[in-house]
Amino acid sequence: MAEVAKKGLEGIVVAESKTSLVNGQEGKLVYHGYDIETLAANAQFEEVAFLLWNERLPNKQELEGLRASIAHEAALPADVLAQMRQYPKDADPMAMLRTAVSALAMFDKDSEDQSVEANRRKAIRLTGQITTICAAWNRIRKGHDPIPPRKDLTLAQNFVYMLSGKANSEPDLTASNAINVYLVLLAEHGMNASTFASRVTVATGSDMHSGVVSGIGTLKGPSHGGANAEAMRMFLEIDEPENVANWFKTNIKEGDRRIMGIGHRIYKALDPRAAILEQHAEALAKSSGNLKWFQIAKQLADAARADSYFIERKLYPNVDYYSAIVLYTLDLDVDMFVPLFAMSRVVGWTAHMMEQFANNRLIRPDVNYVGPMGLAWVPVEQR
Ligand code: ACO
Repeated sequence: MAEVAKKGLEGIVVAESKTSLVNGQEGKLVYHGYDIETLAANAQFEEVAFLLWNERLPNKQELEGLRASIAHEAALPADVLAQMRQYPKDADPMAMLRTAVSALAMFDKDSEDQSVEANRRKAIRLTGQITTICAAWNRIRKGHDPIPPRKDLTLAQNFVYMLSGKANSEPDLTASNAINVYLVLLAEHGMNASTFASRVTVATGSDMHSGVVSGIGTLKGPSHGGANAEAMRMFLEIDEPENVANWFKTNIKEGDRRIMGIGHRIYKALDPRAAILEQHAEALAKSSGNLKWFQIAKQLADAARADSYFIERKLYPNVDYYSAIVLYTLDLDVDMFVPLFAMSRVVGWTAHMMEQFANNRLIRPDVNYVGPMGLAWVPVEQR
């Protein structure tokens, strides 16, 4: 007899990985041995990239080497920038990113080289280039010229610098520190849907750019990375803290909507990234002088935490919930939130793809056929 299908592949283990541990029962996240709390408090994003790609932290010289390589590789080919200027200005930024990364492959001399060295070069290059694409697109679509990356900045600083519109200015320290923490927290997360998609892609022998394109397309969905933008749209819809109780009653208790940014396939306790981002969201909101969005998020989370439906199903805020407040307070456009997620997660995707290449076997699950059998062929004219 055929096995019962495991819908959503829940609980199926598909690989052994040294990148990260996600303990959903205890709400714990570890990147190659280091607690996420330690990394969020101390690490530069490039340090995390080095850790995930090399299975150890860099020394000072190695960290500076990687920072410089990413900054150097972050420049985009002129042809790709020229193409981006032709894209519709109202395109979904994730559709834009998916297309631009796909185009990058055709201008990358390493794209079809599957050697370990070429894959490492591509991981570095894609990490730099995706940040530049995000910042450049936010300017191009508003009719401004993109600002090229600087070679002396970290990735988080370069993003803030390229976005700011002030060439030759220094990136805002508060903003780049907040972006750095965000990038550290989002870099890697076990066998999440987009990471799985990128591993499936390269397990066929396909190339790293194709794997990243699969990752971007998968991250885009509102059940995955797309939830950060959806969470912010929900907070904007609620509009005032005093509307939270009524919104919760009408849309969640009496309606059939979900609270975006709440719930997780693995976490049945608070997502540790949400706990860290909640603190950053509150601090940023206080320093910006506008606590309204944080208060709405907090009150809605409290309403869910006190509700038996959410308690029974163990539904808690996930990483997307408070990251929406952090990014909004930093003045980022809501539809750029998901590309920012990709800016960070490209490090996890490429780390996983390198693991996949190192010990590859085609990923090809099975399906139970439940359709009809033995149907007689009817010529098209008679159907
Ligand atoms: N609001 C209300 N109810 C919810 C929510 C929510 N946010 N999330 C899950 N539920 C309920 C479901 O209705 C279901 O109830 P039922 O048992 O009565 O049918 C139960 O909780 C389990 O939900 P599933 O969808 O089966 O859980 P699954 O593990 O497949 O999905 C998911 C997890 C997609 C994250 C879900 O919790 C969700 O849609 N959350 C909102 C979107 C979101 O925040 N996504 C980001 C995830 S984190 C990330 O990818 C970076």
